[in-house]
Amino acid sequence: MISHLLSAADLDRDFATLVLDTADGMAAAISNREVRKLPTLRGRTVVNLFYEDSTRTRVSFEAAAKRLSADVVTFSAKGSSVNKGESLKDTALTLQAMGADGVVIRHGASGAAQRLTGWLEGSVINAGDGTHEHPTQALLDAYTIRSRFGRLEGLKVAIVGDILHSRVARSNVALLSTFGARITLVAPPTLLPVGVSAWPVDVSYDFDTALADCDVVMMLRVQAERMNDSFFPSVREYSRRYGLDAVRLARLHDDAIVMHPGPMIRGMEIAAEVADSARSVIVDQVTNGVLVRMAVLYLLLSGERGTTA
Ligand code: NCD
Repeated sequence: MISHLLSAADLDRDFATLVLDTADGMAAAISNREVRKLPTLRGRTVVNLFYEDSTRTRVSFEAAAKRLSADVVTFSAKGSSVNKGESLKDTALTLQAMGADGVVIRHGASGAAQRLTGWLEGSVINAGDGTHEHPTQALLDAYTIRSRFGRLEGLKVAIVGDILHSRVARSNVALLSTFGARITLVAPPTLLPVGVSAWPVDVSYDFDTALADCDVVMMLRVQAERMNDSFFPSVREYSRRYGLDAVRLARLHDDAIVMHPGPMIRGMEIAAEVADSARSVIVDQVTNGVLVRMAVLYLLLSGERGTTA
């Protein structure tokens, strides 16, 4: 059993399947209860340490920990001693002194979650580190796809947009390829990382061709906050070539689904009518996020001290 969740690339197929199956178990366990809460992590403390903006990931981890009856402390860098120049190490040592059993961290620096493991005894869960990885997003995406198709093996997944700056893309490429899905990255050449030829994916610059036979279209936000240069001529041009609008949506085969990790920029990478269409599973992704994070917290934190429900 692993003690931290830092990267989707660390997960083998057996453990990743165990997470998805455990999330299914969480859904069943909760739906049978009047109070939608399990006593599994009673007495455990989970700290959410968020140095970057976040809505759904932070709330999702908080809800997941609370549904497992853990004590949850949410620490956002705004209004904390981080603004007074406190280092990540000193913050970690403070959390260690308070006895955190699990720390969920989002940080702008790639590798921050890994660093934390050297200073803490508890489990570290990476909720997004720079452009590196966001493993629970990939797990919830895999869970959502599996719930829809009953499998992941052999499915054709197009990941479209700002691959260069996307930790969601990196984690999804690692996890979905471990599960045997066939991935095509669709992006302008300027938004693809150097070295992408070594990834287990096909690459296409032409969204219309790539669309034709895919089962899943995963749209990504253009991460302007990570750009200090101009990567495409204009928003209009980007949208015309790489946006998912109703015309493109109509070309998908009947069972294909549309995903987006959020936050969406409606009208840019995805048209509002597509985001709200019957093919969109974007709201399911959010719902499933809580179940998958419950599964991860349970598997990492419920050691011998835990009482199973
Ligand atoms: C993503 C992230 O923060 O990496 N969002 C998320 O966690 N749901 C993607 C993004 O910010 O575009």
